Amino acid sequence: MKNRLLKNLTLGAFGFFSFAGIAQEANLTLDASKSIAKIQPTMYGIFFEDINFAADGGLYAEMIKNRSFEFLDPKMGWIEPNSQKYYMNPKSGFAHVTMYSGENTNRNYVSVKVEDALGYSLINEGFRGMGIKEGLAYNLSLFASVEEGNIAKINVAFIDENGHELGGTSIAPKGADWKEYEAKFTANQTLAKAKLKITFEGTGTINMDMISLFPEDTWKGRKKGLRKDIVQLLDDMNPGFLRFPGGCIVEGRTLAQRYQWKKTVGPIEDRELLINRWNTEFDHRPAPDYFQSFGIGFFEYFQLAEDMGAAPLPILGCGIACQFNTGELVPMEDLDPYVQDALDLIQFANGGIDTPWGKVRNDMGHPDTFDMKYIGIGNEQWGPEYIERYKVFEKAIKTKYPEMIIVSGSGPFPEGDYFEYGWEELKKLNTEIVDEHYYRSPEWFRENATRYDKYDRSGPKVFAGEYAAQSVAIASPDNKNNWECALSEAAFMTGLERNADVVYLTSYAPLMAHEEGWQWTPDLLWFNNLESYGTPNYYVQKLFGTNSGTDLVSISENGQALTGQHDLYASAVKDLFKMELIIKLVNTAKEPQEIRINIAGVKVASKGEAYILSSNNLTDENSFNAPKAISPFQEEIKIVKGIVRLSLKENSLSVIKLRLK
Ligand code: AHR
Repeated sequence: MKNRLLKNLTLGAFGFFSFAGIAQEANLTLDASKSIAKIQPTMYGIFFEDINFAADGGLYAEMIKNRSFEFLDPKMGWIEPNSQKYYMNPKSGFAHVTMYSGENTNRNYVSVKVEDALGYSLINEGFRGMGIKEGLAYNLSLFASVEEGNIAKINVAFIDENGHELGGTSIAPKGADWKEYEAKFTANQTLAKAKLKITFEGTGTINMDMISLFPEDTWKGRKKGLRKDIVQLLDDMNPGFLRFPGGCIVEGRTLAQRYQWKKTVGPIEDRELLINRWNTEFDHRPAPDYFQSFGIGFFEYFQLAEDMGAAPLPILGCGIACQFNTGELVPMEDLDPYVQDALDLIQFANGGIDTPWGKVRNDMGHPDTFDMKYIGIGNEQWGPEYIERYKVFEKAIKTKYPEMIIVSGSGPFPEGDYFEYGWEELKKLNTEIVDEHYYRSPEWFRENATRYDKYDRSGPKVFAGEYAAQSVAIASPDNKNNWECALSEAAFMTGLERNADVVYLTSYAPLMAHEEGWQWTPDLLWFNNLESYGTPNYYVQKLFGTNSGTDLVSISENGQALTGQHDLYASAVKDLFKMELIIKLVNTAKEPQEIRINIAGVKVASKGEAYILSSNNLTDENSFNAPKAISPFQEEIKIVKGIVRLSLKENSLSVIKLRLK
């Protein structure tokens, strides 16, 4: 009686709730009788860019930094504690970098003159150290040629900061011809910051190149493969697509520094190194030792997408360098090679092994095609220069591959002149999917849960290709992956899902960051040389990605979608494969909310589960010490006569799963 009285008092004036501190029950209706829209299998995906040491020093499990001596300072990452350079006495030896003669993409090798085998060592410092695990095997490989003298052994060992050896092995090099050598050894201690020491038996001159070291426990046990723990976190998200290789890295600061996929396939020793564009981009986070070895190149990205069951979505440069940097333009009459790169990429992914680029794929061990359906042209381009170039790509691609779906871009911002102009022009061209990016405040995300409600249903579809709530400001080094940001993204994502007839692909960005080597924060995952963890934002993405469903259904209150009225956001889907009804509810209020959901149009089992993500403080974060502090917990829920009653925790995301009968 008291409840009804309160309801009468409050509903009229405020639509909902809370009178003199007594909470009312919100009355929601879920009508699952009809599918409003199909949820695209690509709805929740992954954006990968080599920023924050995400590739070399991260996902790519190579432990040696500057393994082929190609950095601008060719000895960067290598230390010679007792070399002649520092001590004239004893004269133990000296390493210098020599260039191969003739044309070579791998230009340099190291030449070590050993004068006193007992005194000389060459040490690699790894990517801010090497993470080693007790009992784990490590695979070493290198190319060597003994130029002169009697060097009989190359010894390698992990060392700690005091020089104590933590496991090693040796290789017996033979002769002056270049040969590849391999050896395996085991670490006898776990350490986050080991180094690799190389010493020699005998004296003379030995040349070495591609000195490489990988843990044995890579993803799928692939030789020279990816870090298992990181891929596992990605795979657990059930991504619908993998966008690669970025981001601004696609465009380059200058055209010469753009990402050129053809230089990233084939034997790894022939992949030409490139300075990473994030190397000195931010004065506050310089990383002069940040390069792209392309150990992860386009083949590896396609393979990773395939492993995860994700659609590959490569993005290519369109003849414009990053407009935040030089904005260098390829003249229109010189655009052909860029367009040809796009056509050849499609052949690389989808062509038969009798085609030139299909053969390259086959030679790399993948005769089957990669089933590429999407290609992106340009990253954050804006203005007429982009549209002009985009049209040329579109025409060439559609003429040869009419089935290919092309992703175009609306620039770096979610509103404003560039955005408006881009959308207007792309609409005129009747493009298929437009990429939008938004790095905005948590408030913006909460307030924009209705963003796509107003979009033209007959226009291009949307790829929310890069987004993340910024707790301080865009790209501020003080941004945090805190609970407020994650919760606000969850609220916004209910809006993406409610508009699944327009929004076809979505991804958080950037994806990951090295604890010490990062340039940009926030990021979805953090890792160091031994461990990795998902942020609260990761768990939001994972909850949506693993519960994407197949069909959008309606959930409402008083006939209205829930878009933040009394701090409540909601979306609902059916999964016709798993026979589930899935409801996502976000409560951004400081208090719990009591809700009642009347399930109409379908019958559901009497028991279901709620997966709840919440934290006491909006500033809470996950960390290496408490990697799962904010992670979902499960509760059982009951359904009585088609009604679900819930008390939504304050500041929480709840994913409710009911079984369809
Ligand atoms: O995600 C980091 C950067 O933000 C991307 O490289 C770029 O596309 C955006 O400006």
